Amino acid sequence: MKFQKSKKIYKKTSNFLAGPSTFSKGLDLFLNDISPYAIKKSKGCFAYDVDGNKYIDNIMSLGAVIIGHANKEINEEVKKQLNKGTLYSLASELEGQLAEMLCERIPSADVVRFGKNGNDATTAAIRLARHYTNKTHVLFCGYHAWQDWYICKTSMNSGIPKEISNYSHRFNYNDIKSLQDLFDRYKNKVACVIMEPISKENPMNYFLKDVKKITKKNNALLIFDEVVTGFRVDRGGYQNISGIKPDLSCFSKAMGNGLPISALVGSKKVMSKSQEIFYSLTFGGENLSLAASIATLKFIDKYKVCENIRDNGRFVIDRINQKIKNLSLENYIFLNGYPGKTIFNFRNQDDSNAEMMRIFWISKLIQNGILNNGYQILSHSHNKEIITKMVSSYEKVLDEIKFKLNKGQFIKKNYKLKLNPDIRK
Ligand SMILES: Cc1ncc(COP(=O)(O)O)c(C=O)c1O
Repeated sequence: MKFQKSKKIYKKTSNFLAGPSTFSKGLDLFLNDISPYAIKKSKGCFAYDVDGNKYIDNIMSLGAVIIGHANKEINEEVKKQLNKGTLYSLASELEGQLAEMLCERIPSADVVRFGKNGNDATTAAIRLARHYTNKTHVLFCGYHAWQDWYICKTSMNSGIPKEISNYSHRFNYNDIKSLQDLFDRYKNKVACVIMEPISKENPMNYFLKDVKKITKKNNALLIFDEVVTGFRVDRGGYQNISGIKPDLSCFSKAMGNGLPISALVGSKKVMSKSQEIFYSLTFGGENLSLAASIATLKFIDKYKVCENIRDNGRFVIDRINQKIKNLSLENYIFLNGYPGKTIFNFRNQDDSNAEMMRIFWISKLIQNGILNNGYQILSHSHNKEIITKMVSSYEKVLDEIKFKLNKGQFIKKNYKLKLNPDIRK
């Protein structure tokens, strides 16, 4: 697979662009000759790069495009709105319409505020929780934003005053003691707990229930970050599956099938205080995204999108786990995540280097026509035929890994290449 045009475009582009617009869009993959730099067109679950290579898209715009790229039904609604105006000088009636739809779907949603990015919702949630509780400390677990309150606790924290990090503290998912310890250490100072209700791991041993209990007992707010899970695992988010109702929740990504929109939702009691903090965006309530989101939520119900993604994802997971078992690769490779977002993980062993295997996996799949970054994010457009094709490619690459392991070809101890510095612990 050749990336000649990609290289030319990158060379020209980098004279004018100081950096990528999205951290996880694979620039490091491209710079290591693994992936193309730029896409020319995407349709359904396919992406076409500038060199004319066609891929099954398993990134799906980091989960934002849930139905499929350039979907006709969604596009029609967006086009209709385009002719009526993209951004009004006063509120648009679409805001109320979409807010009502969200409140009908999401168990914890009495009322809604809109934003454009996941960041808007999570950062507004933190500010509101601090205002509501009159406390400062934030306990978190996972990736939530590029804003100071979160990035201060990662390796990319330069440019952020050191003091900020005194107020943010990481706990571990499925480790209730790590959360309890933080509540003990910062007694009466914790404003909120923010977390993805499910991410790499499934909740174990009533974890979410215990998180809710401890948070409530300490008069802090529980915020579910459903930026990824929202409308992907269930039409009402993971809270609709777990039965655990947070005080506030954040939705974005899949909400607009690729158009930029987010929502902070929650109880009337807490959300009514949101007018006492400052949360305002010129492009908040922009019409094309509102129209896209209304159409997307309707589509999700009409075509049982979440159920289809769940079934297809489950099928892939089962088949790959079986293949891993057949090849006795369990000590080297394991899957986690959930059917709509599956992560392929590699383990360091005496006879293999995990990062070498991971990069081999990503690059071989790209050569086999599957655009990926080590994750598999499914959309409604990944139909049975595509899924079957993908599984065959996965199995083929697993066979190659087994072959290379037998030949001792993943042994390099001090392997230097490391993709994506991990800010998403
Ligand atoms: C769980 C989670 N929360 C929040 C965000 C931030 O969303 P955005 O990049 O749209 O601001 C992301 C982005 O990947 C995310 O994965």
